[in-house]
Amino acid sequence: MAVHADRTADIDSLLDSVVAEQEKLFLARQPRSKELIERARRSLAGGVTSSWQITRPQAVWLSHGSGSKIYDVDGTEYVDLHGGYGAGLAGHAHPAIVDAVRAQVARGTHFAQPTEDAILVAEELARRFRLPLWRFTNSGTESTMDAVHLMRAITGRDLIIKVEGGYHGHHDSVQVSVQPDADDVGPADRPNQVAASSGIPEAIRNLTIIVGFNDLGAVSRVIDEHSGEIAGMILEPIMMNAGIIMPDPGYLEGVRDLLHADDALLCFDEVKTGFTVGPGGATAALGVTPDITCLAKSVGGGLVLGALGGSADVMEHVANDDYEMVGTFNGNPLSLSAARAMVYEIATPEAYERLAELRGVVDRELGALIDKHSLPARVVSIGAKGCVTFSTEPVRNYRDFLGVDDRYNHAHWLMQHNGGVFLPPWGKTEQWLMSVQHRRDDMDRFIENFAGFAAAVGG
Ligand SMILES: Cc1ncc(COP(=O)(O)O)c(C=O)c1O
Repeated sequence: MAVHADRTADIDSLLDSVVAEQEKLFLARQPRSKELIERARRSLAGGVTSSWQITRPQAVWLSHGSGSKIYDVDGTEYVDLHGGYGAGLAGHAHPAIVDAVRAQVARGTHFAQPTEDAILVAEELARRFRLPLWRFTNSGTESTMDAVHLMRAITGRDLIIKVEGGYHGHHDSVQVSVQPDADDVGPADRPNQVAASSGIPEAIRNLTIIVGFNDLGAVSRVIDEHSGEIAGMILEPIMMNAGIIMPDPGYLEGVRDLLHADDALLCFDEVKTGFTVGPGGATAALGVTPDITCLAKSVGGGLVLGALGGSADVMEHVANDDYEMVGTFNGNPLSLSAARAMVYEIATPEAYERLAELRGVVDRELGALIDKHSLPARVVSIGAKGCVTFSTEPVRNYRDFLGVDDRYNHAHWLMQHNGGVFLPPWGKTEQWLMSVQHRRDDMDRFIENFAGFAAAVGG
């Protein structure tokens, strides 16, 4: 016990000193960001444009991106593995996106009337995601909001089931138990319904019932207890806001069958997984087709776009205006021109083959370094995405994820950053994303930095 306590104290002080040294270096490299932050605070709340951009030790302000690289306002180049929180599968200034957007911008950027690209993109989404009918939105939040409304409209029921630790955007119904603290979660078999931010009314929170990921028994119990009252369940088929957590074999099929037996609906949130884990998202990769699928992020090739697809039965309620699905910018022609390039020219079978090869290299090299330095860590990856989870135990749900050691993540993030690789901030929550424009030398830089980190904090 005393030996264990000593080791923990050693690791604490080692990580503290690595973080202190790297933060100092980080700040010294970014004087122009510091100036912009000070100026921004006078006109932008918190000095940023989204609260997630407030990161430690300071937000990094960017000037531009090209291919697999981004450049900060101090002129420093980074291999971009941040990927704009999962929207960056095309990489930056991809020639097909530049051509498509340039052509469209000269022909008008907004009409609020349909244009032909909407059909071309919808046809390809239908083929890839195995759902026949589509509509477009402007974000992941809008897609999951419409999905929840639609499930309620179709069933005439108010309750929805949501997975603990799942993030589906910032509308009320899904802002429940997103990243609850260990002290707040309640019993594992009946998790508390914890508001994810202020401003979420209790009455709405009470309509969202929480279950653990990979816990089929919990879904069955909730449906038994509320038979005839559940509109549907929303979940990421592969959890991607708690590192990466794969579904157990049979879990997704089991959830679908339990819901359908009670005439409730299944909605996959593929905002992150769609396009990044494979050409047809987790739906095609895992072989389970939901009633509704939500897309956003990479589908727009770096422009602002979301989409919602559904079965013929589900989308009949949209087609006949039983559920009115609207938005001034829905089907925006500029975004759809980029999406057309994305689905026909960029997210091709060959691109996914190249990504799989790169992923194999990263998995192998990082795995070898983790073993060499006896790090309490494992690499979890699929498609273009990956993360290092600092846990020796497998992580199957949010309760396991709470036990993941987050102390390593910030040190790793800083060392990658100072070594010219931009990973997504937010520690153990996020994953890296490679784009179709990343090549071996980009990933070699990442692996080299990881080797430095492993040597600094490992055995
Ligand atoms: C799984 C998932 N769903 C929905 C959203 C919300 O998307 P947006 O930020 O485009 O509203 C996110 C955003 O990170 C997400 O990760």
